[in-house]
Amino acid sequence: MSNIIVTGGAGFIGSALVRALLADGAGRVTVIDNLLSGKEANLAEVRSRVDLHTVDIRDYAAIAPLLKGAPAVFHLAAIPSVPRSISEPVPSHEVNIDGTFNVFRAAAEGGVGRVIYAASSSAYGDTEVLPKTESMAPNPKSPYALQKLVGEYYGSVYASCFGLETIALRFFNVFGPRQDPSSPYSGVLSIFMTCLLERRPPTLFGDGEQSRDFTYVEDVAQLCIKASKAPSAVVSGKTYNAGNGGRFTLNETWRTLCGIEGVDIAPQYGPPRAGDVRHSQADTSAAIRDLGHAPRFTFQEGLRRTLEWYRHSVSA
Ligand code: UD1
Repeated sequence: MSNIIVTGGAGFIGSALVRALLADGAGRVTVIDNLLSGKEANLAEVRSRVDLHTVDIRDYAAIAPLLKGAPAVFHLAAIPSVPRSISEPVPSHEVNIDGTFNVFRAAAEGGVGRVIYAASSSAYGDTEVLPKTESMAPNPKSPYALQKLVGEYYGSVYASCFGLETIALRFFNVFGPRQDPSSPYSGVLSIFMTCLLERRPPTLFGDGEQSRDFTYVEDVAQLCIKASKAPSAVVSGKTYNAGNGGRFTLNETWRTLCGIEGVDIAPQYGPPRAGDVRHSQADTSAAIRDLGHAPRFTFQEGLRRTLEWYRHSVSA
C-alpha cells in the first residue's frame, strides 16, 4: 500500500500537517521521524491512522524502502533554529543537507509522485525591500539559512535532471499549538506564551524592533496540501513563500499578548543574536496565484488560539 509520507511528522508543524491530510481524506499517513524534537504525543488523536517509523533521514537504507511508490512526500524533517545551527553546526548540516539529499534521492529512485519541501524564509537574509519576493537573490546569514537554501536547490535540480516533481515552500516563522517551548532554541512565540502564562518577562534579543511574518500553523498545513495538488507544469522545481503577508515587531507582539491576557509586564532586553534577520515579511502573491494560498487566521486570532492551547496543555 502506498501512503502519503510526512518526514518530521511527529513535530509541531508536521503533526499539524498529518491531521490536515487525514481531514482532507487521506486514509492513512506514514510518518518518518527520529523523535529528536518530535513527539509521538503530538499525534495522539490520530495515532490509529498513522504508521510511525522512528528512523532518521540520515539513514538512506532505512528511508528508501519507506518512500518507494509514495504519491507524495512532505519533507519537513530538519534540525531547525538559526542559533542551534551556529552552536551545533555538524548535526544541523548532516540532517538538513545530507538528510534532505537522501530524501530527494530516495524519492527519485522510488518513483515518488511529488516532494513538497519545507524551505525557510531565512534564505532571504536581510533585504533592502519588503515584502520579500521569490525573485530576490537569496542571502543566507546563518548555517541554517544556507542549509535550507541548499535543499531548495536540490529540489529544483531533482526536478530538472531527474524528472522528480518537487516544490519548495519557504515557511515564515510558523507558530501555533504544540510548538515546544522548553529548549533555548524554541521559537520566540512559544517562549512568549509560557512567559505570559507564568507572568515572567521574556528576554528580547536586541531592541525588540526586529519584525516577523508570523504564520499560523494550520494555514501552513493547508498550503502544503495545496502545493501537493497544484499543476506540475506550473509549480514543479519552483519555490514559493509560505507566509501570512503581515509583519509584527517583537515589542508589539509582546504588547499584543499582554493585552489579550490583561496584564502589563515589561520585557527584558539582551544582546542581539548572531545570524538574526532584522525584518521578515512574505509577498504571498505567487502562492495565492499558483497554489490558491488563502490564510484563514489573522495574527491576533492565531495568538488567541495558541495561548488557549498553552494554557490548557503546558503545565510547566
Ligand atoms: C528563522 C526563520 C524561520 C524558520 C526558523 C526555524 C527568519 C526570518 N525566520 O526564524 O522561517 O522557520 O528560523 O528555526 O530567518 N528572540 C528573542 N527572544 C527569544 C527568542 C527569540 O528576542 O527568547 C528573537 C530572535 O532573536 C529573532 C526572533 O525572536 O529576532 C525570532 O526568533 P525565532 O523564533 O528563533 O525564529 P527566527 O530565527 O526568526
